[in-house]
Amino acid sequence: MTAPDARPTVYLDHAATTPMVPASVAAMTAHLLDVGNPSSLHASGRHARRVVEESRETIAQALDCRPGEVVFTSGGTEADNLAVKGVYWSRRAEDPRRTRILSTAIEHHAVLDPLHWLAEAEGATVELLPVDERARLDVDALRAAIERDPASVALVTVMWANNEVGTIQPIDEVVAIASEHGIPVHTDAVQAVGATPVAFARSGVDSLTLTGHKVGGPFGVGALVVRRELGVTALVHGGGQERDIRSGTIDTPAIAGFAAAVELAVKHQAEHAARVAGLRDDLVRRVIEVVPDAHLHGHPTERLPGNAHLGFPGCEGDSLLMLLDARGIECSTGSACSAGVPQPSHVLLAMGCDEDQARHSLRFSLGHTSTGADVDALVEAIGPVVERARAARR
Ligand SMILES: Cc1ncc(COP(=O)(O)O)c(C=O)c1O
Repeated sequence: MTAPDARPTVYLDHAATTPMVPASVAAMTAHLLDVGNPSSLHASGRHARRVVEESRETIAQALDCRPGEVVFTSGGTEADNLAVKGVYWSRRAEDPRRTRILSTAIEHHAVLDPLHWLAEAEGATVELLPVDERARLDVDALRAAIERDPASVALVTVMWANNEVGTIQPIDEVVAIASEHGIPVHTDAVQAVGATPVAFARSGVDSLTLTGHKVGGPFGVGALVVRRELGVTALVHGGGQERDIRSGTIDTPAIAGFAAAVELAVKHQAEHAARVAGLRDDLVRRVIEVVPDAHLHGHPTERLPGNAHLGFPGCEGDSLLMLLDARGIECSTGSACSAGVPQPSHVLLAMGCDEDQARHSLRFSLGHTSTGADVDALVEAIGPVVERARAARR
């Protein structure tokens, strides 16, 4: 229950997770009491299978891929692990010279950590390519790294859009460079789907990660979209449910909810982006009016519509976060997955910030439930909060 005098929560952390949309809740709950494993041959099993296959078709239509290219997983982290390790193993098995993986220094940990693991446990050589001060990949560095020895590159993995500062990456250029040498490209599009146009076939990538809980669907379900021609070695062995690439009983209700959310997010992407970008621009302008030395990180135009990543010199991001939280305003100091760990962001360090600059930032991320009142509440709170955080450091 909410206490009568409690202020409503101002939720500005949609990049960490966004609330489910009603259509997704309805699609998911419609199947929670269904009996039937989609792999069973009887009528109940066939009914569940139909729900899963219709969901796969819905997602394929929304993302410009074939239904058979959608491999359901438990979310973005599993899909990224499957792509990075599975493609590496498969490509290296075809040709043992392929031991290099090219990526960027600003990937999410769902990509970075499997890369580090492959380097330590499997002898991979991982090259994290630099980004500029706006967090855009240096494509000349990518070209040079490939051309140094194309035959040794197992794969390239570059995120579609960065989860911390919101910068959208030049995926077209990445694909153009890699495809000259027949090198597969994986992209983590977890933050991009529903926020910016994402079309799998048109993009030319070979595999792409998305997840339910960032697009208005449930937690614990996602997908790796992967070209049928691309070899992917399984990580999880068992019943072989998803093309023998991913085993485990298929979660029919979650997949139905996931598909409903993806369909709506993609259908309304353009209006959503325009509305949310308007709120975000208002937020940035007004916060900087109140705190004149605050500054926006990331790319001014090639960025996710809901992302406002701001630096507040002289403050600890963690203190700002807790002071705002005490006023009912929820945001993040970086990616939710590393929040709580008091380390400077690897993304900001890669953009050339020093440790101090990398610690004084907050990410406000807006989404489908955000309103002008959320922005007003932040603008009202930010001045006193920054003053207190600065006083605490003196
Ligand atoms: C860019 C990016 N990749 C991967 C993930 C992990 O997705 P999931 O939470 O579904 O495992 C996240 C979640 O924060 C993300 O932002």
